[in-house]
Amino acid sequence: MKNFEILSGIVGLMLLLIVSIFILGFINNIETKSNVISCGTYAPYIPMEPSMKVGEALFKANCATCHNKNMKADMTGPALGGALKRFNNDTLAYADFIRGSQAYIKKGHDKRVMQLFEDFNRSVMQDFPNLKDEDIKAIIAYTENMYRYGYY
Ligand code: HEC
Repeated sequence: MKNFEILSGIVGLMLLLIVSIFILGFINNIETKSNVISCGTYAPYIPMEPSMKVGEALFKANCATCHNKNMKADMTGPALGGALKRFNNDTLAYADFIRGSQAYIKKGHDKRVMQLFEDFNRSVMQDFPNLKDEDIKAIIAYTENMYRYGYY
């Protein structure tokens, strides 16, 4: 009987230990997660993805002649930093514009872009009909991360 009591005491203590390790682990996990969110350095505007390398190559080959690579200053074309937001985060509208900016402007539904064309002395941006949705998403991922963090 005495042995049994000792044994169940030991088992009880071990159970308590295991449960507290779980609880501590859980609390620690919550803290770590909230730290990441509140400090913000690990939460890029567009999530990090391998496509940014693709985006960088596409940007340099097609856009860098007119759009500043620091994404902050205007050149022949406006700074691209924050451009997705100016298209109300609508990647399809953005892609439409890239593939045919003049056609997009002439539709007349986007007054802001019509004004932008005037502000840039009616400089015509060339069309990129060959860029696919994934290409344009990669360009956006690259340009927005460069704008926000100066790297990707
Ligand atoms: C020949 C010069 C030229 C090239 C090359 C060019 N752009 Fe442009 N881009 C412009 C000009 C000029 C404007 C603004 C006037 C207009 O709409 O034509 C503009 C406007 C834009 C806008 C709208 C910005 C805003 O604030 O709303 C986006 C987005 C954009 N370009 C992306 C790109 C991307 C991406 C590429 C490469 C795939 C590219 N451009 C290549 C000249 C160029």
